[in-house]
Amino acid sequence: MSSPQGVTIRPLRSEDFHDLSRGLAHMYDELAAGESVWITLRHVPPSEADYRKWFDRLLDGMRTGESITNVAQVDSRAVGHCTIERARPGPTTEQSHVGELGILVQKGHRGTGIGARLLERSLDEARQKFDIVYLTVWSKNVEAQRLYRRFGFTLCGHFPHTLKRNGQYFDEDRMFLALTDPPGRAGAKR
Ligand SMILES: CC(C)(COP(=O)(O)OP(=O)(O)OC[C@H]1O[C@@H](n2cnc3c(N)ncnc32)[C@H](O)[C@@H]1OP(=O)(O)O)[C@@H](O)C(=O)NCCC(=O)NCCS
Repeated sequence: MSSPQGVTIRPLRSEDFHDLSRGLAHMYDELAAGESVWITLRHVPPSEADYRKWFDRLLDGMRTGESITNVAQVDSRAVGHCTIERARPGPTTEQSHVGELGILVQKGHRGTGIGARLLERSLDEARQKFDIVYLTVWSKNVEAQRLYRRFGFTLCGHFPHTLKRNGQYFDEDRMFLALTDPPGRAGAKR
């Protein structure tokens, strides 16, 4: 894997709103341009207020300890982010040890090792917070799945036809990574 030059991995900041929301909005442009977009999108692109709500949840999660969000910065711009959030935020439950991962690197910066750097940092920090991390990925997203496998994620579920785009069905996969060794023996972090 190439080593990305001039990339800083750091925690999310409030001033990242514009870059991160623009990065997500670009996925709608990529889809409209007929490119392969294997993340789940809304039928109608989110409004500025929707993006704000999403972003504020990420920031709030950092403050309350419910989530970790790291950003990849290149030339003072946030070009990617990785979030691991408590699967069931709020009052502690029997599921509080579970993190759910999401990651996005902006077009033009993919395939240069940024995703790997984001995963490395975020999973490292997740060890202080969660016992296990799950993610959902389109079955067609083979590049992303290869990257996850390299970090030790294992396929644990296949869900046929959970997605429908332009009348065509697509499948999703679930993958997990146990952060305790052996799984479940290190004690829950919450
Ligand atoms: C999936 C994603 C986060 C990976 O980040 P990335 O910065 O492109 O990944 P890296 O550069 O660290 O690549 C690591 C490996 O994945 C491969 N890869 C993954 N996605 C790739 C892409 N879109 N383009 C090129 N290579 C990609 C690389 O070839 C590399 O493989 P290698 O180690 O065998 O050489 C990023 O491509 C992305 O945001 N894609 C669009 C959104 C998405 O699919 N998110 C995941 C939702 S589950």
